Amino acid sequence: MMIKLFTIIVILLSLAQLHNAVKIEISEHIKMDDSSYEIGTGIYDITGPAAETGMMGYAMPGQVTGGIHFRLRARAFVFVDGSNNRAVYVSTDSCMIFQAVKITVVQKLQELYGPNLYTTDNVLLSGTHTHSGPGGYSMYALYGITTLGFYRQNFDTIVDGIVQAIVKAHNSVAPARMLASESFLLDSNINRSPTAYLNNPAEERAQYEYDVDKNITVFRIEDLSGNPIAALSFFAVHCTSMNNTNHLISGDNKGYASYLWEKHQNGNSSRPGVGPFIAAFGQSNEGDVSPNTAGAFCPDGTPCAPDSTCNGKNEGCIARGPGKDMFESTQIIARNQFEKALSMFESADIPISGGINYRHTYLPMTNITVTPPFSSGAENATTCRAAMGYSFAAGTTDGPGAFDFTQGDNSTSGNPFWNFISKFIAVPTEEQKQCQSPKPILIDVGLTKPYPWTPDVIPIQIITIGQIVLCAVPGEFTTMSGRRLRDTVREVISQSIENPIVLVAGLANTYSGYIATFEEFEVQRYEGASTIFGPHTLGAYQQEFAKLAQSIVKGTTVPPGPTPRNLTDHTFFLLPPVIVDEAPNGDKFGSLYADAKTAYQTGDTVSVVFYGANPRNNFMIESSFLTVDYQESDGSWSTILVDGDWDTKFYWKMHDLAQSLITIEWTIDPTNTIPGNYRITHTGYAKPNPFSDNLVQYNGVSQTFSVSN
Ligand SMILES: *[C@@H]1O[C@H](CO)[C@@H](O)[C@H](O)[C@H]1NC(C)=O
Ligand SMILES: *[C@@H]1O[C@H](CO)[C@@H](O)[C@H](O)[C@H]1NC(C)=O
Ligand SMILES: *[C@@H]1O[C@H](CO)[C@@H](O)[C@H](O)[C@H]1NC(C)=O
Ligand SMILES: *[C@@H]1O[C@H](CO)[C@@H](O)[C@H](O)[C@H]1NC(C)=O
Ligand SMILES: *[C@@H]1O[C@H](CO)[C@@H](O)[C@H](O)[C@H]1NC(C)=O
Ligand SMILES: *[C@@H]1O[C@H](CO)[C@@H](O)[C@H](O)[C@H]1NC(C)=O
Ligand SMILES: *[C@@H]1O[C@H](CO)[C@@H](O)[C@H](O)[C@H]1NC(C)=O
Repeated sequence: MMIKLFTIIVILLSLAQLHNAVKIEISEHIKMDDSSYEIGTGIYDITGPAAETGMMGYAMPGQVTGGIHFRLRARAFVFVDGSNNRAVYVSTDSCMIFQAVKITVVQKLQELYGPNLYTTDNVLLSGTHTHSGPGGYSMYALYGITTLGFYRQNFDTIVDGIVQAIVKAHNSVAPARMLASESFLLDSNINRSPTAYLNNPAEERAQYEYDVDKNITVFRIEDLSGNPIAALSFFAVHCTSMNNTNHLISGDNKGYASYLWEKHQNGNSSRPGVGPFIAAFGQSNEGDVSPNTAGAFCPDGTPCAPDSTCNGKNEGCIARGPGKDMFESTQIIARNQFEKALSMFESADIPISGGINYRHTYLPMTNITVTPPFSSGAENATTCRAAMGYSFAAGTTDGPGAFDFTQGDNSTSGNPFWNFISKFIAVPTEEQKQCQSPKPILIDVGLTKPYPWTPDVIPIQIITIGQIVLCAVPGEFTTMSGRRLRDTVREVISQSIENPIVLVAGLANTYSGYIATFEEFEVQRYEGASTIFGPHTLGAYQQEFAKLAQSIVKGTTVPPGPTPRNLTDHTFFLLPPVIVDEAPNGDKFGSLYADAKTAYQTGDTVSVVFYGANPRNNFMIESSFLTVDYQESDGSWSTILVDGDWDTKFYWKMHDLAQSLITIEWTIDPTNTIPGNYRITHTGYAKPNPFSDNLVQYNGVSQTFSVSN
């Protein structure tokens, strides 16, 4: 196979000057040699409710959406090999993929394409882990507490957007090839629980230079003439550059890295989210990895104590940087990923070749017997019913909890509020306390009635595309957990795949909290406290992923495992719907509350305020709540920016009970803006009648203003 490939490269090189027809013939040889695929890509809007909705990630009551910085997208890749084996990878600008999202996406794909093309087994959905997206799309209660439950329309928006992205990818499948590049990206991530990392064995730590993975992997997808089609990269870093004071929907550092690259390739005047080139920045083992590279500081400017407290309290200890504010920090971490990935993309030279394979199984995760060598020294060990420890409520330095807890605190004499709540929910049994030891149990989420608050039937999945090995993990693996899992899978899969590129695809298919190592679990910082299935959670995953890999090596099948619970008819939602939108006396929706000035210079920020309506009425999917328009010489208007762009911000604020004030800001980019006349428009839908669900579209326009250098 090596010789054959080499021969083809030589032929290709020597024929490089020749006619197109010859090239086509050659490419068919490549296809027979398995180094050529058919690949399709697609992108679609998944931006949910931009008002009043709890944001997913910081679990911070009161951090609700109040506008849009830039839109969230699903980016889908369909891979087909020479034998028609098919696999799908989707990276979504969402905090994580919840179980019901994966199940419903597959159900919808099967309605469209029949039962065999797209299945639970060959579809991998991953979240970028942005903490600035609307929540309420999990049917499990723990992840709905701060969103007041399950927000059906947001769930539908995410599911439908993912399906649409896959449909586009399905429809664009065409001959393509892939090249990989592996490198390191420094200055863009740090460990936020270094004391937990330090509890890993010294010999193990000595194998690595850093306490986070600096590895970055980029895949270049190109057509058979070498034109770029898409980029797919993996780098482990939390999307928490935007902090928990933010109320604007944002894709955070990975979303903005995608935006930058897509603009770069599709042209500065291209609309965001339109394509054709897409760049996905996939999430990996980011569990203990922060983008706030300046580190964690107390309000007085001194570094926090090693247990991430200031004067014994966790609230004040907050990580920051590298920028002057969270917007600049997002830009810097995004630009670092984009620029590094772009240069790797341009020099990518590891050809991907070989067939597509996949295995998926559901695990009864509360009750897995873990045997040596995965049981951390014990003869046999077991996973536990899900439980959250006290440090979970302490939060992290990326977003400290709203209550007085200290990470690593194992005392049960914690905050009276949570003590009360936890007793009310479920009193852990002695057996459960022992199984989860040394975790002091705050919430016994697996024991709540009538349904557990977190999932207990958990999917694991491996997809191989040539020598690419994607391990889809249902949560947040810490740095060392990810390394151990990759090593386990690499050791097995190497029996059939030469030089495998083993990657952790994070926050995929289902969310079940964190996965810390056995040793990190002992320390019970946030990540250990949020490792819900007990100290042997990682060991169980290593053991079961090894079985999947083994099955790929041997060409055997794996049992599907137990069926996950269907909670569709058992959700609740306490956020009231929009009752009515009111326009002020004598004015219409879209009328001006505060107009733009008449003249600006580049670098200025234009601000216009409209009387509008609640953006929850209509999410304006694949559209925009705003435009920035440039006046052409014939007087006509051309839109240059929309709400998916970085330079604009869309703010919603309630005004006088039922009125909405919409503020639109445009920071005029000096490098990219032609002097001339401009205007700003706003579009939305209002619900003028409290007794009817009828929505009316409205528009508003600012006065024309000039922009000069
Ligand atoms: C990732 O980094 C480790 C060192 O931390 C190195 O041993 C390994 O080869 C790297 N893997 C890839 C795929 O670059
Ligand atoms: C696109 O905009 C960037 C700055 O935002 C600029 O550096 C670059 O030259 C522009 N590219 C083109 C092709 O105009
Ligand atoms: C969030 O970032 C802003 C700057 O953008 C800063 O003023 C604020 O203190 C930060 N808050 C937290 C909780 O990190
Ligand atoms: C755990 O699994 C064992 C067999 O593996 C079974 O006998 C036992 O009933 C299970 N316990 C629970 C609580 O599901
Ligand atoms: C450990 O578990 C395995 C698999 O369930 C079982 O075969 C073995 O007998 C157990 N060993 C001990 C010492 O209990
Ligand atoms: C709590 O941690 C201390 C050391 O930090 C240890 O001595 C003690 O046994 C632990 N208590 C429990 C209940 O785990
Ligand atoms: C879950 O239940 C709902 C409502 O009962 C049903 O429509 C849906 O098909 C079920 N999903 C699965 C995967 O069985």
